[in-house]
Amino acid sequence: MSEFKEKYGPWAIVTGANAGIGKAIATELAVRGLNIIGVARRQELLDDLQQELSEDYGVKVRTIRADLTDMESISKIELATSDLEIGLVVPNAGVEMSGEFIDTSLDANERMLRLNVHAPMQMSKVFGAKMARRGRGGILFISSLFGYQGIPLVANYAATKAYILSLGEALNIEMKRHNVDVTVLSPGLTDTDMPANMPIDFSRMPIYAQHPEQVAKTGLNALGRKATVVSGLLNKFYAWENRFLPRSFPVSLFGFLIRHAFKEETVAKQTATQS
Ligand SMILES: NC(=O)c1ccc[n+]([C@@H]2O[C@H](COP(=O)([O-])OP(=O)(O)OC[C@H]3O[C@@H](n4cnc5c(N)ncnc54)[C@H](OP(=O)(O)O)[C@@H]3O)[C@@H](O)[C@H]2O)c1
Repeated sequence: MSEFKEKYGPWAIVTGANAGIGKAIATELAVRGLNIIGVARRQELLDDLQQELSEDYGVKVRTIRADLTDMESISKIELATSDLEIGLVVPNAGVEMSGEFIDTSLDANERMLRLNVHAPMQMSKVFGAKMARRGRGGILFISSLFGYQGIPLVANYAATKAYILSLGEALNIEMKRHNVDVTVLSPGLTDTDMPANMPIDFSRMPIYAQHPEQVAKTGLNALGRKATVVSGLLNKFYAWENRFLPRSFPVSLFGFLIRHAFKEETVAKQTATQS
């Protein structure tokens, strides 16, 4: 048995496993021999994942259809997996929200907080406690380069990611005595549906997109080695340089870059559909 599987197997829960970075993480975990519990809302994509991973890598796959903005959803996942030994949790599912904060819908902001903040907090607590009792396991949180400083026009999303970064780096230390590895992966721009649907023309910013597969490998390779990891060289630079500058500088810089790249007509439409 590989060292990775011994430490973090036999089962891993990945939320948002049916698309984007979550699907890439679930696939990389299957390559490493872990059985997967995939959580998301779109059942047909979960079914595809189940078929692909079991046929291609011979691992067991269970799917749980759940809307993680529902406060009861984590208890549902706990119940549905009570017969399994969960060695790794990846609370990956997340959504973004862009636009002038005061113009965005309060309800949509609250749902984003439940998905991006509340669900990962609850999952890491519930399954982290089980891992601590067992004396083994791992949690891979997904933050963002946007979590390293405030980001005007993506303010509340960036704040949710700052929460994850802070929670994860503290738990990295706290959970060491239980032999549970905690790492926070911060992707930069990654080629998934999320940025494709954002009202921002990222080609107008000095950043480049990575493939989800690269990002997934960066995160899983850092597990047990680092508290935090930023994916991509240029992204690492952005996260690193802002430690040496007055905090207002990177915030203003990102504010300038994002405003310049904003597709105003899209955000007007998005705000209209949110309210
Ligand atoms: N892509 C980027 O540039 C980027 C950069 C930095 C950080 N990130 C972070 O990486 C993570 C994954 O993002 P991504 O780019 O892979 O996004 P994505 O392609 O849009 O995928 C989002 C995943 O989350 C699931 N999901 C969304 N809302 C959900 C809900 N209410 N309940 C349960 N599942 C839900 C989706 O499945 P269903 O719709 O079927 O539920 C899907 O599997 C997020 O936490 C994001 O903040 C992404």
